[in-house]
Amino acid sequence: MTRYEKSIETHNLARRYISGGVSSNFRYHTIPVPLCFVRGKDAYLWDTDGNRYIDFVLGNGPAILGHTPKPVLDAVRDTLDKGQAFTSVHPEELALAKRLTEIIPCAEEVRFDVSGTQANQIALRLARAHSKKDTIIKFEGQYHGWADNILVSVGPSLNEAGPYNTPTTVAHSRGQPKNVVENVLVQPFNDLAVISQTVSKQSEHIGAILVEPIACNTGVIEPAPGFLEGLRNLCDQYKIVLIFDEVITGFRASLGGAQQRYGVTPDLAVFAKACAAGFPISIVAGKREIMNGVTDGVIHGGTYNGLTSTVAACAATITTLAANNGALFKKMERQGTTLIDGINTLGRKHNLPLHAQGIGTIFTTVFTEKQPLTHYRDYKSSDEGLRLRFIEELQHRGVRTTSRGTWFMSSVLTDNDIHETLNTVDAALEALKQEIAKG
Ligand SMILES: Cc1ncc(COP(=O)(O)O)c(C=O)c1O
Repeated sequence: MTRYEKSIETHNLARRYISGGVSSNFRYHTIPVPLCFVRGKDAYLWDTDGNRYIDFVLGNGPAILGHTPKPVLDAVRDTLDKGQAFTSVHPEELALAKRLTEIIPCAEEVRFDVSGTQANQIALRLARAHSKKDTIIKFEGQYHGWADNILVSVGPSLNEAGPYNTPTTVAHSRGQPKNVVENVLVQPFNDLAVISQTVSKQSEHIGAILVEPIACNTGVIEPAPGFLEGLRNLCDQYKIVLIFDEVITGFRASLGGAQQRYGVTPDLAVFAKACAAGFPISIVAGKREIMNGVTDGVIHGGTYNGLTSTVAACAATITTLAANNGALFKKMERQGTTLIDGINTLGRKHNLPLHAQGIGTIFTTVFTEKQPLTHYRDYKSSDEGLRLRFIEELQHRGVRTTSRGTWFMSSVLTDNDIHETLNTVDAALEALKQEIAKG
């Protein structure tokens, strides 16, 4: 009997009825199979074999208040008897929109959607309509959802990625039309000199720069000092719309997102994931003159946008995160920093090139001599095999992180959980060291 016997059984059955056994390709990469989870509560998850995990995946980010957060569930429950979809506007939707304009620096107006992918689509459409230019700049290794027109250079191999200064735009999925690469220019993150040159040469075609202000999907890479300010200046100079994809950093880098944390205001921003603690709502926010495109020929639809339940979840999440002057953020930052420092110390103790970096509420663990990571190619050249073995050893001992190496913090972790996690890292590294010594 293995630790994962029932999960394996479930997966074998699931593959017969759910294509690939899971409902998103990004759930497939799990050890030894996508585990079958039966319950989540606070900072923990339980699988069908009865194993408990301290959860740093959190649904890939949303569950910032942990699993089953009471204030959010209570708020959602209150909506269930009122009705969900009125296909117009409702008072709580208006109140939430107003609150968001107070919280998010770039938000003069907002629109609601249901996913990060879709909110990025309307942001891109608004940007192109406003700038009247079609080319989008995105950064290598960044992910903005799985839609055809932006699913490029998300994780190219170093062989296919092309020259550092002029990366090749690489389609990420079979089935994408060949011309998807035509309207997207890929640039290296954190290199203002390269991007300034690109923009100055091609500014008459470039309508938008779309950026994850912290590169969260391939390493957690903070913007270098001056990088976001530099993008802002370029966009102002060349009449380009600056879009921050804050699907991860929204309500996580701070309540107002990375734009608030770093003090740089984009023209448009997209928030999702943590903004409703697990319920499906996303937000596109921005300057009135750009957002107003929706009243002037820019089409944005969505049957499930702004449901009473998801609006209530978002409002309750804001109330919880804003309480006591953002005390939960301070706690997550403190505990996350303890983990980052502790993991780096343990890496040195075991003489392994383990490196943790990020901010308190989200960070990454990779194996590399090139520390810190500053752009995608640093991450891509780190030791993927060792990272996956580390994650496997953590999982065997009850700590769950993403296969990319990203750790999401929740506000319900106790100091004991942090202590237990560091002990688990210590044991996992010991196992790896012994394995390496055996050859
Ligand atoms: C930065 C970023 N943008 C967009 C998306 C897509 O969001 P969704 O999965 O809600 O469509 C993700 C999802 O992981 C993301 O990390």
